[in-house]
Amino acid sequence: MSDLSALPLPSTADLAHLRRIVAEWRHDGLRIGFVPTMGALHDGHLSLIARAKEKADRVVASIFVNPTQFAPGEDFDAYPRTMDADAAKLAHAGCDLLYAPVASDMYPDGFSATLTVGGPSQGLETDFRPHFFNGVAIVVAKLFNRVQPDIAVFGEKDYQQLLVIRHMVRDLDLPIEIIPGETLRERDGLALSSRNAYLSTDERRVAASLNEILAAFAHDLSTGIDWETAQGKALAKAANAFERVDYIEARCAETLAPLPPGPVHQPARVLAAVWLDKTRLIDNMPAV
Ligand code: PAJ
Repeated sequence: MSDLSALPLPSTADLAHLRRIVAEWRHDGLRIGFVPTMGALHDGHLSLIARAKEKADRVVASIFVNPTQFAPGEDFDAYPRTMDADAAKLAHAGCDLLYAPVASDMYPDGFSATLTVGGPSQGLETDFRPHFFNGVAIVVAKLFNRVQPDIAVFGEKDYQQLLVIRHMVRDLDLPIEIIPGETLRERDGLALSSRNAYLSTDERRVAASLNEILAAFAHDLSTGIDWETAQGKALAKAANAFERVDYIEARCAETLAPLPPGPVHQPARVLAAVWLDKTRLIDNMPAV
């Protein structure tokens, strides 16, 4: 764990300290924005900080690699941890406060609460990572309670997560506005992701085709062909390019409910998760 006091922006791991700073801002009538992250920050994360700065007077970012959203055997231990570089990027982006709690504080001995989310969490990621959204929901609910922001920004890169959080905020009456941030991509279309660091040079080249396959899928839907036919084409291409395809699907953009059979006459979203060796890539984009 790095020495937070040496970081180039105000930083704390301490809940009472966080609360004191936020209380002062609130006392001054300032609007508070929040961007939760797991660190290993890239320009996609920083674009969310910029979005939060447009909507709020002060921006808190959190860095916490949340154990409850990783299943045994997933990449919790290998997940990149780059606190010093992250803090430099946050300072440069104009973030006002870094909150980096430790796991024993977030989940003390005997921690037993769970949060089960339904609605948009059904299918897609949940079919392959059944524990995932309940883990995300509990940590985000805790972080929301700790920071108590007016707004929070979540990336469309994790579109299902964005909708799950919106749904949770609505269900639990949390007075927080959830703001989407557009997906930032490399020049060849690959969505920026902390996990891209795992890719070899060859894998990195193949990875970019996920964006192309999704764009063609979205385009096919816009021509009015049945989504089943469009999905079949996309699946064949993805199965050819990638070692494994968890899913490539079109869903209702607003709820992520499955689409009625045939041509698509409502705002839709195409979403995919694929594997290159041990690296899992996800991406999505609007369609129709
Ligand atoms: P993490 O993967 O670090 O992502 C933090 C935020 O950055 C999420 O809202 C994610 O959608 C967004 N993001 C990631 N890549 C992006 C890109 N290329 N363009 C724009 N935004 C991007 O998502 C999580 O952490 C965790 O699940 C968390 C919500 C912090 C709960 O632990």
